[in-house]
Amino acid sequence: MTSYIGTPTSRVDGRDKVTGAAKYAGEFVAPDLAFASVVSSTIAKGRIASIDVSEAMKVGGVIAVLTHKNRPPMADNDKAYKDDVAPEKGSPFRPLYDNKIMFNGQPIALVVAEDSETARFVSSLIRVDYEEEPHVTDLYRKRDDALALEEPAKPRGDAAKAFAAAAVRHEGEYYVPIEHHNPMEPYASTVTWDGDGKLTVYDKTQGVQNVQRYVCSIFDLKPENVRVMSPFVGGAFGSGLRPQYQVVLAVLAALALKRSVRVVLTRQQMYSLGYRPAMIQRIELGATANGTLNAITHDAVTVTAQYEEFHRHETTWSGLLYKSANAKYTHKLARLDLPTSCDMRGPSATTGVYALESAMDELAVALKLDPLEFRLRCYSDRDQNTGLPYSSKNLRECYRQGAEAFGWDKRSPEPRSMCDGSELVGWGMATGIWEALQVPITVRIVLTANGHAQVSCATSDIGTGTYTIITQVAADMLGLPLESIDIKLGDSTLPQSPVEGGSWIAASVSNGIVTTCEAVREDLLRLAKRMPDSPLANATLEDVVLSDGKIASKQNRVRAVSIADAMRHGGVDRIEQEKSTAFKNDGSHAHNTHSAIFAEVKVDEQLGVIRVTRIVSAVAAGRILNAKTAHSQVMGGVVWGIGVALHEETLIDHHFGRIMNANIAEYHVPVNADVHDIQVIFVDELDDIVNPLGVKGLGEIGIVGVPAAIANAIYHATGKRVRDLPITLDKLQR
Ligand code: MOS
Repeated sequence: MTSYIGTPTSRVDGRDKVTGAAKYAGEFVAPDLAFASVVSSTIAKGRIASIDVSEAMKVGGVIAVLTHKNRPPMADNDKAYKDDVAPEKGSPFRPLYDNKIMFNGQPIALVVAEDSETARFVSSLIRVDYEEEPHVTDLYRKRDDALALEEPAKPRGDAAKAFAAAAVRHEGEYYVPIEHHNPMEPYASTVTWDGDGKLTVYDKTQGVQNVQRYVCSIFDLKPENVRVMSPFVGGAFGSGLRPQYQVVLAVLAALALKRSVRVVLTRQQMYSLGYRPAMIQRIELGATANGTLNAITHDAVTVTAQYEEFHRHETTWSGLLYKSANAKYTHKLARLDLPTSCDMRGPSATTGVYALESAMDELAVALKLDPLEFRLRCYSDRDQNTGLPYSSKNLRECYRQGAEAFGWDKRSPEPRSMCDGSELVGWGMATGIWEALQVPITVRIVLTANGHAQVSCATSDIGTGTYTIITQVAADMLGLPLESIDIKLGDSTLPQSPVEGGSWIAASVSNGIVTTCEAVREDLLRLAKRMPDSPLANATLEDVVLSDGKIASKQNRVRAVSIADAMRHGGVDRIEQEKSTAFKNDGSHAHNTHSAIFAEVKVDEQLGVIRVTRIVSAVAAGRILNAKTAHSQVMGGVVWGIGVALHEETLIDHHFGRIMNANIAEYHVPVNADVHDIQVIFVDELDDIVNPLGVKGLGEIGIVGVPAAIANAIYHATGKRVRDLPITLDKLQR
């Protein structure tokens, strides 16, 4: 029964969002609300020798200045629970923990005042003396002195030997700078002091229960006394996966002052938290003269902090994606005097696949092969790292439909051979891949006799459309109209959910709804059977569906009982079920989503101006739950891919170890003028192995492959290969 699943349904929370009825973390109020402003370190490494708050305390309206010296007690760094997304090694950064400075922009004091303007002004009056130590923030200074990691994918064959023996070779080094998430909503937390030691924490987060566990552990609070809420999130992209320092500061201040406190970071301060790690990637590819890929080596050096070892697996996509008898990977981690890097949309794939797909393009050029044809020659129906078949993989159809929609067959292979007036035209392509992950989740459904259902789960909607797909799936499974479904999420008191991330929530929560709805259907069937002359007297659970407000026989829809009648006869006015769904992975299949990206650029060589005039993204991601929000999700990923290719770069003045462009005037992201024609195609992909609904998730796949497709198109337009992102006009001119 799928009257809603798959249809292009507008966001159920859309009206609330555009009218301002949807409230975000920094907008909640309390009668005694105090406002806090963060004071940030101006050195990158060393110690605070002294902090003088005397001037600050003279200003009217100032309530307190909290520092490491006068803060409430906090658990020892190595004793507290880390957080669900923390790296295995190291301990998370804690604001105001002690006098140590570990990065420039580190929060070192919190000014609390009766209004936010006073707090902000007074934070400029705090005098700090430091004992400075030398720092390093430049990845290139640490690349040879980086920590070697073990990669999950085992090498196969002898890649070095195969590379040396290959008829056609390519080797290249690709650089990706530090990038920041820049969501519209700032990091913010409003903590209301509810009395009796109870707190409500409105936080900008991708996982309320993760924040709850973290805060309780640091401040030794009881879970029943800390309720974390995040009903709406104004974009996060990974920046809200881990509890960030503003929530710790807000709780700390509320505990110190026994009153409600709000902390909102400034746009500039939002650069003093996690980021996509800068990385240097070296790739070697070797092939036979007829284009059989035979050797892949992918080495990466990525960035982390001094106090935590964060990394993902940039290199393993290379071994997984294409047939090659020989493959080898190494990954090193450079510790810099910066905050810990973190997940950012398509973590490891956006960047790792950029390097691989650029190198594949370069090898195709060396082979004098069409880049799409080359990829088809090493197409693999199995995950090459594990040898497992895919639960589904319709990448071939992505290539076909994408190429057709783009008009790829009209491409003239020579660089600089296509133009439009004074502009050079370039066509490039790349493959995208992501994981189809799913995580244990619990969903509660309360069905009332008036035909209304409430579905609740502690997951978030980080802007992806989770409210809407939950509504669609529940409406179909319960046989009710969309309007009769009410959703509760983003509240730590609701049934268990992990953070929303990794593209796993759509698959997890939708199948979780199926599980709980089955229990509701079972209850209804039991009630229906008890009715006198029940038309369902002999029916089993498998025989019946919920449809049009009735429980009905699948074989003969006339044999039906209305939900209202069944409940009335049974003397119940509500049915409540709460079920957990765990996704068994028997290890027999690989689960991935795929895409084919085709990009057109137009380059004005005299000015160095690059315009991305067309992108076609053909995506195979299992069942699409909502054609409209899915389209938006992929389009957003493509836009970000333009940013990665052409605009985004966090620039550090290594002398001070300080970010120079910590604002959205100088940190460039694509704007409307940068975005032209984007076509998104969803390729049919039935998958009855991955999960009952066949959903594979869409959060990340939209961005992966886009940067390489654009870089490859720029090469095709100009004959210039730029291997360090972003491809700014100065690089094209050199
Ligand atoms: Mo995503 S980078 O797991 O929010």
